[in-house]
Parts: sequence; structure tokens; C-alpha cells
Amino acid sequence: MAHGDFLKDIKGIRKKAREHLTSGAVTHNYGGRVEHAIKLLNHAVATEIVCVLRYKYHAVAATGISSEAVKAEFAQHAKEEEEHLDMLTERINQLGGKPDMNPEGLLSRAASQYVEGDNLIDMIKENLVAERVAIETYRDMIRYFADKDPTTRIMLEKILAQEEEHANDMHDLLVDHEGRPMLKK
Ligand SMILES: [Fe+2]
Ligand SMILES: [Fe+2]
Repeated sequence: MAHGDFLKDIKGIRKKAREHLTSGAVTHNYGGRVEHAIKLLNHAVATEIVCVLRYKYHAVAATGISSEAVKAEFAQHAKEEEEHLDMLTERINQLGGKPDMNPEGLLSRAASQYVEGDNLIDMIKENLVAERVAIETYRDMIRYFADKDPTTRIMLEKILAQEEEHANDMHDLLVDHEGRPMLKK
């Protein structure tokens, strides 16, 4: 865009900014459909709530002398999943949407599952599965948002990086507690 064009454009940008104040942070050049973005983010909200609950349950239910460190790890992850939840609901609010925190139908909106597990190994495995599901869905969402909505994309990239750490932590615990090396694929 030539310098003159940009100046011409800035008048239009200022005019539109003044006209649509009720849209808050969502401006005219928002790249995607904002309702669709909110819907996607609300799926992630449900996923995170399920992850918070599952990790919190595991943090209490894991028993045995060897599991103190594992319990602490579960509790730490629960806290971090809650931070992800807060980031998502805050962003939904900025986009003019309503976070869906309704417990009714929560599991059907979530990508992750709530599995209690009968023993420590099962718990670790279930968390690893859930992290891998979260990684896959966040990666897809990041591709969707791309340059349509960079703020949401960057937030999702931060969450994704932490889910990858979580998966790695669960994988390491599994190796420790199963006592045999597992190849990372
Ligand atoms: Fe998370
Ligand atoms: Fe996670």
C-alpha cells in the first residue's frame, strides 16, 4: 500500500472505529467470523474444565508412597489447566462472546475425557491421552486462526506449548513408574 493510500485509509479506519463502539475489541478487519471463533474457544473451555477436574481428582486419589511426587505433578497441571481456562474465557469476553461454563453437557462439548483410572499407571496414561488430544485440537485451532486473529492464535500457541510440556511430563512419569523405556514416536 502506497503511503498516500494508507493515509486515505486511516480516515476510513478512524470513522469505522468511532461508529462501532459496541463491538469493543472486534474491529472491521477481524479476519474470521467472530461467532465461529467464540464457538471454537468455548470447545477449548470445556476441554480445560474437564482437564482441571480430572487432574484435581487424580491429585487426591493417587495413593502410595511412590506417588507423592506424582500427586504434586497432577496438582501443578490442574493449576495450569485452570490458567488456560482463564485465558480462554477472557479472550471470549474480549471478542464479545459469553464463556460457556455450564456443567450441563460439559463432556459433550469437551475434546478431553474424564477418566478416573484404577491405579497410578492408569491415571498417568489417561492424562497423557488427554494431553495428546489437547495438543491435536490446539494445533488445529492455531491453523484455523492463522492470520485471521493473531491475538487468539498467539494465546493458543502459549497454551499449546504448555500442553506439550504436560504430555512430556506424563510420558516421563509413565517411564518411571512402568520401569521400562518407551520410545517417543
Ligand atoms: Fe490446558
Ligand atoms: Fe495440559
